[in-house]
Amino acid sequence: MDPILRIRDLVVHYMTEEGVVHALQGINLDINKGEIVGVAGETGSGKTTLALTIMRLLPVSARIIRGQILFNGMNLLELSEEEMMKIRQSHISLIMQGTSDVFNPLMLTGLQVSEAIEFHKDEPFHEAIQETKQLFSDVGLGTRVLVSLPHELSVGTRQRVKIALAISTQPELIVADEPFTGLDPTLQAYLSDLIIKLHEKYGFSALIISHNLLRLFEISHRIAILYAGKIIEINNTSNIYHHPIHPYTKGLIGALPDIKSPKSKRLIEMPEIYVNPLNPPKGCVFWPRCPYAKDICKEKEPKLRKIDGALVACHFADELKDLSPWEFWKEQGG
Ligand SMILES: Nc1ncnc2c1ncn2[C@@H]1O[C@H](COP(=O)(O)OP(=O)(O)OP(=O)(O)O)[C@@H](O)[C@H]1O
Ligand code: SF4
Ligand SMILES: [Mg+2]
Repeated sequence: MDPILRIRDLVVHYMTEEGVVHALQGINLDINKGEIVGVAGETGSGKTTLALTIMRLLPVSARIIRGQILFNGMNLLELSEEEMMKIRQSHISLIMQGTSDVFNPLMLTGLQVSEAIEFHKDEPFHEAIQETKQLFSDVGLGTRVLVSLPHELSVGTRQRVKIALAISTQPELIVADEPFTGLDPTLQAYLSDLIIKLHEKYGFSALIISHNLLRLFEISHRIAILYAGKIIEINNTSNIYHHPIHPYTKGLIGALPDIKSPKSKRLIEMPEIYVNPLNPPKGCVFWPRCPYAKDICKEKEPKLRKIDGALVACHFADELKDLSPWEFWKEQGG
């Protein structure tokens, strides 16, 4: 498969009164055509910054220090704002984090979607309305929602309209930042199924960002684990789940309830150590929390390298790769 998106050595900082926030520290990630890649990471790991950098929607305090974001071979970071406007929505859609709505509160939701179709696909009104009806039906919504104002809709319904809006111009790539946040588990499960069905129908590529690994397992072909602005492991979903290699990934998998963990096994609790983004650790970003850390880990940055089909950033990945999460974290006293 060819990559539709290729991110190379992406470094992004925020300038604050307290100092420089190292939000992304050299991201390398590919998304192949038709592929869904999940990005998981705890709060502050840089997930939203990654989404906003791809869309070129960073706040003014942000600085892209270096790197490339190649979309179909074209470096998005070199485009003018006018060129980037054309890319947004027509080629790459963003589903934003949070419940803050993208909708005009005074306009019927159906009209808002059909207006986007008219504008971006240059279609006449009546055709755009027909397409909107079809899109609403694709996301499981009836005509009543078409003629509702946004505030009349529940959070789950608004999220589905947001998805209809995102796919309305048949973009090649969808970037979704925390699409499950704020929804109850039943709605999250519904949304997962919906994304899979829409992907089958429309064939888009997607970068789905979430701190909810279980949901990412359901919908992603591959998963990248982000920690303190660095990707520390990438693998296909099944392997990340069954054979996590990096100590942090092992900790995340071992902390998940009811998978691979017989009831007698306790869930793994990694030590809670806050990474200061103003002064991130030298060497391996995970060393302050890693029970296996050696001197080299504190000095030399481990780069992503191939191990058993995965890409892993750990100096000792060869030694640790076959330990289960419980073997690793218990043996190391974690
Ligand atoms: N506008 C900003 N100005 C200064 N620092 C920021 C800004 N936005 C984000 N940051 C910092 O950059 C780092 C990455 O933040 P980001 O929002 O990308 O993380 P995230 O993984 O999306 O977190 P969450 O799961 O809470 O949404 C954090 O340390 C955050 O505090
Ligand atoms: S490089 Fe060292 S500190 Fe980092 S995860 Fe591997 S063993 Fe732990
Ligand atoms: Mg975020």
